[in-house]
Amino acid sequence: MSSLRRYLPCLICFFFLTHGGRRACATAKVTAIIVFGDSSVDTGNNNFIPTVARSNFWPYGRDYANGIATGRFSNGRLATEFISEAFGLPPSIPAYLDAKCTIDQLATGVSFASAATGLDNATAGVLSVITLSEQLAYFKEYTERLRSAKGEAAAKEIIGGALYIWSIDTNDFIENYYNLPERRMQYTVGEYEAYLLGLAEAAIRRVHALGGRKMDFTGLTPMGCLPAERVGNRGDPGECNEEYNAVARTFNAKLQGLVAKLNKDLPGLQLVFADTYQLLADVVKRPADYGFDNAVQGCCGTGLFEAGYFCSFTTSMLCTNANKYVFFDAIHPTEKMYKLLADNVINTTLHVFM
Ligand SMILES: *[C@@H]1O[C@H](CO)[C@@H](O)[C@H](O)[C@H]1NC(C)=O
Ligand SMILES: *[C@@H]1O[C@H](CO)[C@@H](O)[C@H](O)[C@H]1NC(C)=O
Repeated sequence: MSSLRRYLPCLICFFFLTHGGRRACATAKVTAIIVFGDSSVDTGNNNFIPTVARSNFWPYGRDYANGIATGRFSNGRLATEFISEAFGLPPSIPAYLDAKCTIDQLATGVSFASAATGLDNATAGVLSVITLSEQLAYFKEYTERLRSAKGEAAAKEIIGGALYIWSIDTNDFIENYYNLPERRMQYTVGEYEAYLLGLAEAAIRRVHALGGRKMDFTGLTPMGCLPAERVGNRGDPGECNEEYNAVARTFNAKLQGLVAKLNKDLPGLQLVFADTYQLLADVVKRPADYGFDNAVQGCCGTGLFEAGYFCSFTTSMLCTNANKYVFFDAIHPTEKMYKLLADNVINTTLHVFM
């Protein structure tokens, strides 16, 4: 019965939240999952802004409830939603800009994320999406809405007990730094990393100042192995771009340094670093061990470059079983890969909050 009910978006999720969600929340140590980031965690915010960075059309959502395309860049749910479910919270996380969602529905989880954004304002500027500063401003507005709806004490409990997940750094490199000349002329890659780390630090400090305590900052994946980056690899077409992968490893090491520093500096902060690099690198190397047939092409179109609207132009070439694919389009994982990532992050990192 529940496969339909479990996956419904806000249009009709009130039933689920009032019946299943509240009981679960009463026992959960984590009160809500609150998400900042890019397309890896955007559950539909870009549907409500003028941008081409969209996915609210077929074949996206093909394996979601009744095949509804919600603006998630995948065939089904995202890693953050499997994480929410594992914490006894609702199995889907509403998009903040979806006006159909009430503050009660948003009180157990909300995504402020926007596909195609980054830590750097200039990254969000490429496709006119929501900057991280704007996501933080929406978060502040959210805390105020919680206070007026639930009262000071209850709002404080939700905000202080929530798990904040950040998943935001990939586009600064692949959409911005390595794609456009401006930042490359301004900064060496090391300097750009330092700039991004400063922005990450400021954002974490901001959420801490507004009452956030439990946080998970997600590191970079082996972004040189995304299908689109293999195709764009001029030195070795079709192979992973090892320069990008090396940047991801370096940046992740620096992020871990930042995490250690902030845990020392900020009272009550419990910030963890989520490593998604190892698992994805292993899956790409040995896909069959994880039940995948294809780790090189996305499921949609030729699988080599299509994402967003391009996937909707090539639906005759759509793969039949997305569970056999690591990537749904040339950039984004399938639901099956997101589930693996979620399980892995829970096992290695997030269990400390359970
Ligand atoms: C990013 O843009 C916002 C305005 O949208 C501005 O307040 C903020 O200072 C900018 N951040 C940086 C680092 O330039
Ligand atoms: C997570 O842990 C469970 C239980 O120990 C195990 O069955 C599962 O394979 C693990 N998954 C991943 C992706 O690490």
